[in-house]
Amino acid sequence: MLSVVKVLLGNKEMQTVETIPQLRKQIAAWRQAGERIALVPTMGNLHVGHLELVRQARQQADRVVVSIFVNPLQFGAGEDFDGYPRTLEADAAQLEQADADLLFAPPVDEVYPRPQAEQATVTVPGLSDILCGASRPGHFSGVATVVCKLFNMVQPDLALFGEKDFQQLLVIRRMTEDLCLPVEIWGVPTVREADGLARSSRNGYLTSEERGRAPALYRILCEAAQRIQAGEGDYATLETAANEKLKAAGFGPDYFSIRRASDLALPEVGEKDLVILVAAQLGKARLIDNLRVSL
Ligand code: PAJ
Repeated sequence: MLSVVKVLLGNKEMQTVETIPQLRKQIAAWRQAGERIALVPTMGNLHVGHLELVRQARQQADRVVVSIFVNPLQFGAGEDFDGYPRTLEADAAQLEQADADLLFAPPVDEVYPRPQAEQATVTVPGLSDILCGASRPGHFSGVATVVCKLFNMVQPDLALFGEKDFQQLLVIRRMTEDLCLPVEIWGVPTVREADGLARSSRNGYLTSEERGRAPALYRILCEAAQRIQAGEGDYATLETAANEKLKAAGFGPDYFSIRRASDLALPEVGEKDLVILVAAQLGKARLIDNLRVSL
């Protein structure tokens, strides 16, 4: 119904707000009108992967809120917080085009008015400590904290996240379940370049020579998936071989790991729902990817 009205009246302009009171005022009006609200949290520098989340949100809800916030809490010392690409104007134009209703782009002190050491945080133990969490201590607590705060600010009916960040998606699902947050979590399949490379804001860190080599990450994932499908059951050997291939292709592998898809535990014999996860450094970029394997 709403989309019909929009077509008849022409698209209303997207609003951009920077403060929580402004955000809450608009959300309250939509709630009062009984509208269903979707949230797409991002750190900006938007690409077609993000826009796919917005597209799916548009199909599922009357109102689409997109947040752009480079969250200092999820970056470790020496990581790329300062250098993370900030392209708010271009992002806003893309969101307007994608028919988002509201862009929430708060400054850091709107989200974190207190010094970090005094800020209440959310931690999902276990799931946050393995794989990317082992290499980036505190990262998933930073993610869970900001997503929990965004859920409380926006109070969306549903929130959409990419499967590209598979561990992040599971951490957010677990947090939402454990804290009884009334938000439906939607996972959206990874959007890739034509050569298989998963779209990522960090791909912009690659030189053109590295960009040429980058698709090897997905190729090596696909090869391992094919071998598992063909009946290979020695996962440790598969992981070692994949790490060697990554090194030969010029990557600095962090991990290449075959896990149970539901909770990232090491798979028991006969496990049917698997996910292969990889993280590897290529030049200045830390690239991650994953592939589900159902037996
Ligand atoms: P960011 O990296 O900007 O990603 C925002 C959302 O877009 C995440 O849910 C991510 O999984 C999704 N996404 C990124 N690349 C994608 C691709 N190629 N295909 C499909 N979805 C993709 O992830 C974050 O920001 C932050 O950690 C955040 C959740 C916003 C918390 O700060």
